[in-house]
Formats: sequence, C-alpha cells, structure tokens
Amino acid sequence: MGADLVIINASNIATCDEQKNYEIIANGYVAVKDGIILEVNAGNAPRELIDNRTTIVDASGKTVTPGLIDAHTHLVHGGSRERELPLKLKGVPYLEILKMGGGILSTVRHTRSADRAELKAKALSSLNQMLLHGTTTVEGKSGYGLDFDTEVKCLEVARELNEQHPVDVVSTYMGAHAIPEEFKGNTQGYIDFMVQKVMPYVAEHKLAEYIDVFCEEGVFTPDESRYILQEGRKLGLKLKIHADEIIPLSGAELAAELKAASADHLLAASDEGIEAMAKAGVTAVTLPGTSFYLMLGKYAQARKMMDAGVRVAIATDYNPGTCPTENLQAIMTFACFGMKMTPEEIIRAMTINAAYAVDRNKEIGSIEPGKKADMVVFNSPNVEFIVYHFGINHVDKVIKNGKIVVQDGKLNF
Ligand code: NIG
Ligand code: FE
Repeated sequence: MGADLVIINASNIATCDEQKNYEIIANGYVAVKDGIILEVNAGNAPRELIDNRTTIVDASGKTVTPGLIDAHTHLVHGGSRERELPLKLKGVPYLEILKMGGGILSTVRHTRSADRAELKAKALSSLNQMLLHGTTTVEGKSGYGLDFDTEVKCLEVARELNEQHPVDVVSTYMGAHAIPEEFKGNTQGYIDFMVQKVMPYVAEHKLAEYIDVFCEEGVFTPDESRYILQEGRKLGLKLKIHADEIIPLSGAELAAELKAASADHLLAASDEGIEAMAKAGVTAVTLPGTSFYLMLGKYAQARKMMDAGVRVAIATDYNPGTCPTENLQAIMTFACFGMKMTPEEIIRAMTINAAYAVDRNKEIGSIEPGKKADMVVFNSPNVEFIVYHFGINHVDKVIKNGKIVVQDGKLNF
C-alpha cells in the first residue's frame, strides 16, 4: 500500500527536526499516511510509496516547511481601531490611550456589543487569512470581554472554530488583559471576580488550556500577576505572561519563577530575566510586528536570548491595536530586520520553537516521521527568499493533517 500523499522534487525541505540539527534537505520528498508523516528524505520518492490512490504534489522549485504555528494571538474580538491612528501618529503613548479609556477598552466595548455570530464570522475570516498565509495552529486569547458572559462567549467561539476549521486553535483565558471600566480603581475587586467567578467556570468547562496576564505598569503588577497565575495553575491551567512589553517590571523573572510555558513580548526584559528564563526552560515568544506597530524603535533582544540558551519563538500578536495582521510571513521580515535573526532561525521560531510555547512539540512543529502532516509549500526556491521578498503571500499549498487545504494559494476545504 502506498502513501496517501507524497510531496516530490522539493527544492528545499526545512525539516526543523531538532534531532537532526534542524536539517534542510535539498531536492527531497515527504510521504504522508493517515494524516501523519511517514518519511522525509533526500532524492526521489521510493516507488513503493506511490500507488494509483496516492496524491502527488510536485514541489519543483518550491520550499516545504512545517505548518507555521502562531503562538500568540488575540483571535476573537469585535471592531477595529484604525480611528486611533491619528493619536498614534501624534505620538500619544499606547498606555496613555488605554488610560483615556481607548485602546484595549475600546475593543472591549465593541466586543461586548457584538453578538456571537458577528464575533464568530470575524474570527473565522481571520483564521482563513492565517491559513492562506501558512498558519496551521494558532493560540488565541480571550481578554476583550472581561465580564463573565463575554469572556465565556469568546472562548466558546474559539472552541467552535477549533472544531469546525482546519486550523487548530489553542485557547487561553486572558481576563487579566485590562481593568474593565466597571472595576476602575478597584483592581483587587476585579481580580477576586476573575478568581472566584470566571476562572473556575473556564477550567471546569475546559474553555481554555492556558491563562495569561498583562503584567504592565497601570495594568497588573508582578504581585497581582503572580497571584492570578498561581490561582490559574491550581485549576489546571498552564501559564503565559505578557511580560516586560513596555516598562521593565521583571516579568521575565516572574515567568522563570513560575516556570511558565512562555513569556511573551520581552522588549524590556533584563539580562537577569533572560538568564533566569534560560535556566527555567521558559520559551520566549517575541512579537516583532508589535515593536514595529507601536513605533517603539526597539525590539526584543532575540540574539541575546538565543546566546543565553533561551528557546525563541516568533508570533504575530494578531490583535486590533498593536499588530493588526494575521500574516506570519510579514512578521518574518520584521524579525529578520528588527531582531537580526536569520531566515533559518525565523522558520524554527515559527515552527518547532512555537510548538514548545503551546506544549505541542511532540505532535507538530517539524517534518519528521510520526508527527502530524501539517506542512506549507512555498512558491520560493529557498527559505531566505520567503523572508527577503516581503509584503506578498508566497504560499502555494497548505497541508493540514495530510489534506491539501490551500491549493494554488486558495482555500480548498
Ligand atoms: O499583546 N499588550 C497587551 N495586549 C495586546 C494588545 C491589545 C490591544 O491593544 O488591543 C498586545 O500587544
Ligand atoms: Fe498580546
């Protein structure tokens, strides 16, 4: 019996296989059976892999990578914020806009007033865009409802989309994204509400796998963040932190202390925090699109992190305020020019390293036998060209669980 699908003649296959030192195979093939990778190798596919039922994908002149994993997004929300652009151009700081009741709080108003169908349609259109650009697994946070009903509604929408759409959605509860207007001046009251009312429901109904906190000046302090995360852990949730995004608050140190799965942003992370993350095995999720969009003139120190032994992932941070794009290929270019990462490092950071950030490294993130057959075929002779020729979509095909779900750059499911 042959394989279900075989990719042949691929100019380059970036396996991202850790055991094989993230080998890039020139002129190779990949065979898939029952949604799982059977074989990946250089040369021509052996004859016994192919019978009259086998789908052949000719990847001459093209590059194959694992399906991209976007390990940090704010997928489900209402509305958009282009109206804030003049304020941003005048140089009004992000945290100032939030203090004025704009920013995240403006999206909270839009999200609360949207009905379930609207929220779902918008998130569905984002998932389609992600898939068209090569993303096969996405982490999605709540955090634009803040009240019980809207947070639950957003997490339920994410769950439905996970069941109905080819892209896998890993859900995170992020009630601790901002202090809602009804709790203004009463942060502790809001924390008690989350811990006593929302988090037990979310955990009991398995609406999220992770909990995340915006640890930032004027939002949640490190002590408050620690408390919320520890309470989440008691309920069985895994931990993520928006850490050291704008003001240095030792968020990286906190992530290391709590052995979080990931610390995200990290523009203002200290050297001690980076060392501590390396020791604790916390994955850094860097978000160079957000650095660009916030006009901070500053990026996470990815090279320093890699030198210190931190596993570095890269994600979009897709959200309506600080990085309104679903396109990980655009983020590749920001990562290269902003963080001075090489194209090979960038592909790893969006595949195997991102898989660690969502605790899926055993199932996805690399092209090796036994892993899920999630792969992207790029109209690009090598990995460098995808990053170098920017602002266009290089995707030819996306294969998810062994099925071609994007064909000739168009949805096919
Ligand atoms: O990751 N920093 C906090 N949260 C998002 C932005 C959310 C927003 O502005 O709507 C972020 O950058
Ligand atoms: Fe974020």
